[in-house]
Amino acid sequence: MYSIISVGRQTDKAWVIDDDGVRVRKAGLSDLPDLILLEGEAFGARRWEQAFMREMMCREGVQTLLVEGGAVLAYVMFSVSRPFETVEVLSLAVSPSLRRRGLAKDLMARVESLAAEEARTVALCVRPDNDGAVNLYVSLGYKVLALCPGYYEDGGDAYMMVKHLE
Ligand SMILES: CC(C)(COP(=O)(O)OP(=O)(O)OC[C@H]1O[C@@H](n2cnc3c(N)ncnc32)[C@H](O)[C@@H]1OP(=O)(O)O)[C@@H](O)C(=O)NCCC(=O)NCCS
Repeated sequence: MYSIISVGRQTDKAWVIDDDGVRVRKAGLSDLPDLILLEGEAFGARRWEQAFMREMMCREGVQTLLVEGGAVLAYVMFSVSRPFETVEVLSLAVSPSLRRRGLAKDLMARVESLAAEEARTVALCVRPDNDGAVNLYVSLGYKVLALCPGYYEDGGDAYMMVKHLE
């Protein structure tokens, strides 16, 4: 039923993707309730509402990958713009109980790998005070291109970060 993107093993971390029943696959609208649960756990009051997430998932060029193992453990949503040869990461979240095990790093690597054929740049926005996420992106080679004042709905600023793919 699902299109499994890949399976593999991360031997340098406790987290293993293979016959433990943990896998990465493309998400569809039927995953929305589970994605929303994770969204609430990960972002709290700043979570996306279900209607907004649905709208995002339906936008042209938007793809969502999720990690599942019993429940949805992590997801990343991104958008491919062929004319601009750019991929924009729209959202990324990992279940609080499974953080610092390389899940986000793995999902970002998959985005970059899928993006490489159609894009030269990956861009994203992140709150400057989101130290974990900023550290993650810096560790993956992203650089701050600009500070965007009042970018978020609540008036919060954003860093726009970019990485040029090889
Ligand atoms: C940010 C987030 C996605 C990171 O997910 P994760 O699976 O824990 O990240 P990883 O395990 O892949 O981390 C890879 C590297 O990123 C950096 N990093 C990740 N989380 C960090 C934290 N809380 N503090 C400092 N560095 C962090 C580290 O360099 C880490 O490598 P290390 O564990 O070997 O030191 C996760 O904390 C999350 O879901 N946060 C809430 C939602 C959110 O802020 N999303 C991003 C919106 S832009």
